Parts: sequence; structure tokens; C-alpha cells
Amino acid sequence: MKVSVFENKEEGSKDLALLLVNKIQEVLLKKSNCVISLATGSSPIILYKELIKILKFKRVSFKNIIIFNLDEFIGVDPNSINSYNYYINNHLLNHINISNENINLLSGNKKNIIEYCNSIETKIKKYGGIDIQILGIGRNGHIGFNEPGSKKNSLTRKVKISRDSISVLSKDFKNANNIPDEAITLGINTILSAKNVYLMAWGLNKAEIIKEALEGSIGVACPASFLQLHNDVEFYLDKNASSKLS
Ligand code: GLP
Repeated sequence: MKVSVFENKEEGSKDLALLLVNKIQEVLLKKSNCVISLATGSSPIILYKELIKILKFKRVSFKNIIIFNLDEFIGVDPNSINSYNYYINNHLLNHINISNENINLLSGNKKNIIEYCNSIETKIKKYGGIDIQILGIGRNGHIGFNEPGSKKNSLTRKVKISRDSISVLSKDFKNANNIPDEAITLGINTILSAKNVYLMAWGLNKAEIIKEALEGSIGVACPASFLQLHNDVEFYLDKNASSKLS
């Protein structure tokens, strides 16, 4: 595990954006595509802004980049402002030159969810697996919507969103009474199978869970703790989020 601590989220996000662009280029030198799985939430917003800037400046082509995302609400229209589809398009994909056939954002509107989730796993494998997984972390240690209780071998599936997460989401959700309590998420196993994982956490309210994830025991109580088992995971933290690490 590598831990990098920055003065603030702006500096951390800039650094990670540069690192990701280099990583993408490195991957594309070795193989014909680079598969990236994106996170939502407040943590990656500056990262995506910085990525857009660098990609335009460096003229990095997105031709061979395949995009997946981590999670999506069940029953929320992908075009709705509350959907994670909307978030990813709005914060990143609408601003870069990428063809639709390379975009695989999760849909929360499928009739046969089990079949759909299995098809996502198959698709990721077909592309050769995830090269770069971007993550945030929930206050309760969730990654994607793998809430406490999620098992290490879990795959893409339908999950219940915890009460704690619903209360956090209510701050950003337009129409807070209507927050869904189910989602689709890539599983812990799916995330751990990614070749490189980058987790961002900013602010004091993440300090406790960051300590638990990095220094606590590995297990279902804190799903992010499973990242301790990954060979190539990097934590991008600001001073506050790192303040409880020993
Ligand atoms: C959300 C998402 C996660 C995200 C996390 C942290 O509920 N499902 O993918 O990483 O919570 O969000 P934030 O970055 O806003 O703290």
C-alpha cells in the first residue's frame, strides 16, 4: 500500500491527475486498450477537472480507453440529474473525446438485474480486466456501494444502500425524500481484480475511517480494509484525512 499525503484536496487531485495520465500512456504502450473504472461522489470532482485540462493540453487520445463506473442507483433514470450516469457524463465524459462504444456506464433500469450484473463482469473480462480503478470511501468504509457486510469475493450485484449512506446522500440529492435504497455496484472482488487502485479521501470527516481501512483488521466491517490485500493500491489523502494514521 502506498499512502501519499497532500496539503489539501486541490494539490492531491492535481498530482493524481498527472499520475493517471502517465499511467494511461504506460498501459497503452503495453496493450491495445486501457480500462478505467470511475468513482462518483464529491471526492473525485477536482480530479476530473484536472484530468480534462491535462488531456486537452497533452492531446492524449481517448480512442483506446474503455470506461466503466463503480455504481448506480436502482430505479433512477440515467438522464436524471441524480444518477451517477449524469454525474460521470457531466464531470468528465462530456468534456473529452471518447466514442460511445467505449462507454459502459452501469444502468439501474434493467429488468433482469442478475443477468445484467453478470454481463458486466463478462464485459470487464472481455476487455482484459480493469487497469485503473478510481475510488472514494464512504464514512462507514464503503467502496462503490459495497456497504459493511460485503464479502471479499463479491461481484457486481444489486445491493441495499445503508441508512448511514442514505443520510449522507440526502445532502446532495435533488429531492431528498426520494433517495433510492438499492443500487448496483461492482463487487469487492471486481475492485480487487483491478491492476491499479487509487483511493481518494479528503477532510477530517474521513480521518477515522481511513485509519480503520489502512490500519484496522481486514474484514466485512470495513469493506475498504480489503484493499490492504491489493498489491498496487495508492491512497491519496489530504492532511486532515490522514491525521489519525499512526
Ligand atoms: C457514495 C458512492 C461512492 C463514493 C462515496 C464517497 O455513496 N457510492 O462510490 O465513493 O459515497 O462519497 P464522497 O466522495 O462524496 O465522500
